[in-house]
Amino acid sequence: MRKLAVFSVAAALAFAIVGCGGGSKPKTTVWKLAFNQTIDHPQAQALTWLGEEFYKATNGAYKIEVNPNELLGNQKEAFESLQNGVIQMAMLGNPIVEAVNPDFAVLALPGLYRSAEHQQAAYTSGILDDLFKSTVKNNFYTIAAVHAGVRNIYGKKPVRSPADLKGMKIRVQQSQLMIDVINAMGGIAVPMSQGEVYTAIQQGVLDGAENNEVTYFDLKQYEVAPVYSYTKHFMIPDILVINKDAYESLSPEHKAIFDKLIKETIAKAFSIFLEKANTSKKAAEEKGAKFIDDFDASVFTKNFAGVVNKTLNTPEKRKLYNDIKAAK
Ligand code: GCU
Repeated sequence: MRKLAVFSVAAALAFAIVGCGGGSKPKTTVWKLAFNQTIDHPQAQALTWLGEEFYKATNGAYKIEVNPNELLGNQKEAFESLQNGVIQMAMLGNPIVEAVNPDFAVLALPGLYRSAEHQQAAYTSGILDDLFKSTVKNNFYTIAAVHAGVRNIYGKKPVRSPADLKGMKIRVQQSQLMIDVINAMGGIAVPMSQGEVYTAIQQGVLDGAENNEVTYFDLKQYEVAPVYSYTKHFMIPDILVINKDAYESLSPEHKAIFDKLIKETIAKAFSIFLEKANTSKKAAEEKGAKFIDDFDASVFTKNFAGVVNKTLNTPEKRKLYNDIKAAK
């Protein structure tokens, strides 16, 4: 019920017209943007900046309203609302978009990126243009793929080897690839949406989860899973999307402003993320979390070849994989 109410309010506000006509006041189109974590998250900060700048640069014609904390539903629900035009923008985990085009799974493959910088360079080089365009038939435009940290396992005890992970139920995003990778590492993958993770660990439904330091700290997961081990198994991006009609409703002039601001937003999100990964780690340590990196993470990665080959099951996917690998 609560969610339904939220959705109908969102629907009513979308494209709301501010002002009472007479031609004197400009009308403001409000775009609702769904975000599943806190407003302090680097992406939320960068997107808030985007909203402010877009409002100024269009003289108040457009306003982007960032709704954090799954207010507009979890990522899957937000994605449905976006495709139905109830909301206009969303930042989504890559697995959510992978559900409409399996080629997105390539972006999540373990061992694909040499560094965060390599990932960011590949994403902004044009290599992904065709992949992005492919989603128009699903009623949305993919605007960008965004760095979302390096993912590591956390729980109540250190995880330095597949033997340590044996029997541990580890939450993953809803993705077959993630399930396969965690199982290949020795654990038992349990798909679940982000908003349920804290309670599931607290209640013992899960033994742990895997994520970057920012999410680990922002969502206070260190309280229930205080040991964070640097398994470094994934660098899964987030995907910024916009409803097709919303994007196409922009005039050529507004579209140019939007596209330019998006480039700056992505750069901003990236630099804030790198900084915040460090400060989140320190802040979690101050709260009692332990970070473990006295082991060789390649004890996990040697089991990944089978999963990578299983995913690269078409020439298009293999080409995308090779193009990203080769990006400077
Ligand atoms: C990361 C990512 C989110 C995703 C989350 C998750 O934090 O940035 O988009 O929702 O992982 O594991 O669910």
